[in-house]
Amino acid sequence: MISQDILVVGGGLAGLAAVLSSDPHLKVAVVSKVHPLRSHSVAAQGGINAALGNNPDASDDNWERHAFDTIKGSDYLADQDITEVMCQKAVSTIYELEYLGVPFSRFPGGVIAQRPFGGAGFPRTCYAADRTGLVILHTLFEQSIRKQVKFYNEWLVTKLVVKDGKCLGVVVYDLTTGQIMPVQARAVIFATGGYGRVYSRTTNAYINHGSGIGIAYKAGVPLRDMEFVQFHPTSLLGKNILITEGARGEGGYLVNNKGKRFMHDYAPSAMELAPRDIVARAIQTEVDKGNGFDKQYVHLDLRHIGEEKIKKRLPGIREICINFAGIDPVYTPIPIQPAQHYSMGGIDVNEKCASRVEGFFAAGECACVGVHGANRLGGNSLLDTAVFGKISGDEASVYVKGSDGTDNSEKILIEEALEVKARIEGWEKRNSGKRVHRLMDRLKVVMSEKVGIFRKKKDLMEALVEISELKEDYERVYLSGKCLRYSQELVNLIEFDSMLDLAEVITLGALNRQETRGSHYRLDFKERNDRDWLKHTLATWKEGKPQISYAGVNISKYKPEARKY
Ligand code: FUM
Repeated sequence: MISQDILVVGGGLAGLAAVLSSDPHLKVAVVSKVHPLRSHSVAAQGGINAALGNNPDASDDNWERHAFDTIKGSDYLADQDITEVMCQKAVSTIYELEYLGVPFSRFPGGVIAQRPFGGAGFPRTCYAADRTGLVILHTLFEQSIRKQVKFYNEWLVTKLVVKDGKCLGVVVYDLTTGQIMPVQARAVIFATGGYGRVYSRTTNAYINHGSGIGIAYKAGVPLRDMEFVQFHPTSLLGKNILITEGARGEGGYLVNNKGKRFMHDYAPSAMELAPRDIVARAIQTEVDKGNGFDKQYVHLDLRHIGEEKIKKRLPGIREICINFAGIDPVYTPIPIQPAQHYSMGGIDVNEKCASRVEGFFAAGECACVGVHGANRLGGNSLLDTAVFGKISGDEASVYVKGSDGTDNSEKILIEEALEVKARIEGWEKRNSGKRVHRLMDRLKVVMSEKVGIFRKKKDLMEALVEISELKEDYERVYLSGKCLRYSQELVNLIEFDSMLDLAEVITLGALNRQETRGSHYRLDFKERNDRDWLKHTLATWKEGKPQISYAGVNISKYKPEARKY
């Protein structure tokens, strides 16, 4: 049986940051569903925040102002102690990335360039044109190769094995051979990313089904704040490929079918650079009011920025527009619509990225460490992966070195793998029943239509009914292709279980939370209600269903106030 000191699940930025910070004397490996360079971090465009103060307009910036913007942006649901840690560490994190070889864009004097981003009081987003995630990912991957880290690519984790509150390892499906195998590990770090594909309209890659989050939940680890789902204001119409906030940071305008820069009506001082929840709602409101084009979209106009700057600072989005929409933003406004983009909620972990299960850690988008609250600021996601990925590797190393390592887990792991195998054989044996891709389509539609940007009780209750019917249908699924090597159908069958659970806790959390906060907008409760709802939601899988409880928010320096932009 494969056995590791630390097993990192996920080859994106958080996972690679974790392996790089893990103790070099420990046996560390990465399991990744795809080749690490195909992980979704590669799609992060606009940048990573740190109060370097390099922009001439940001000489007064500092980490405290970054922390304040993040907390205000979160609609005061971020835990303030841990947010301060992230913003303090941001500056050294950027210089470490630079030292490792990340080719950041530069200002003429040679310092790292910084651009304005939504909800930020100063231009503090460091970038590499509009391919920031790609260059950081490539750099960390090269460093992992240099460290001779072992990668098990195209392995899907199907189960987290926990016994008596302690993590023993995982069960994997090796896509390359079709085998189901146990992997023993003294510590496991999940860095498995978000769940965007639970929605039909998303900027997320096809791999983002959220099964890491769902697997942890089924193993008894609580999920936190799952009702907070971020919709990015600007995705390319129809395709929903991300059109970076950096485009507005560079001066892009949002314009409706009357030719009006409508953000004036929603955030008169921040305009297009208000936080994402506000801009996404503004766009959707304009469309719903009949001020959109074809009842679907508005324009992101970059023409006044000029060809030279577009080609230099936004080459990737220009390429995307040319290749996927047949337009050149140098001459033509971009048709855009909001799309699901990010999950503020996730696996409940503390400031050490440690969960309540001994030896199980999580970092990056799959985790909820508490820095994004009800709405994440653009540029704080890459930062989260780098800072907390590193912390998770450090802390898992400390844990492993302090544990005796004498557990007798092989038998349990083998039994768990046999259980997974038996389940798959059940799907294989059947020759008729429900097809999983059809169930997935139904789920995505219901989540987009009823648990989207605007929510209300009736829709949320209808969504729960549909999710429970889908759960019943999932009991009748079958595997039509019997070859298990590279079976996307099997991947979907395994992951759909998690998608259903996540959809259920997102919807339940949204139904219970009778207020509007950040990305969670209730048409029937339009105000934020700090008296009753300044608290985190926790969802725990108990006796076959979700159990909801609540936990306090760390409020230290910044008292909640009205959010005006
Ligand atoms: O718009 C963007 O470039 C996305 C950035 C982010 O999600 O942090």
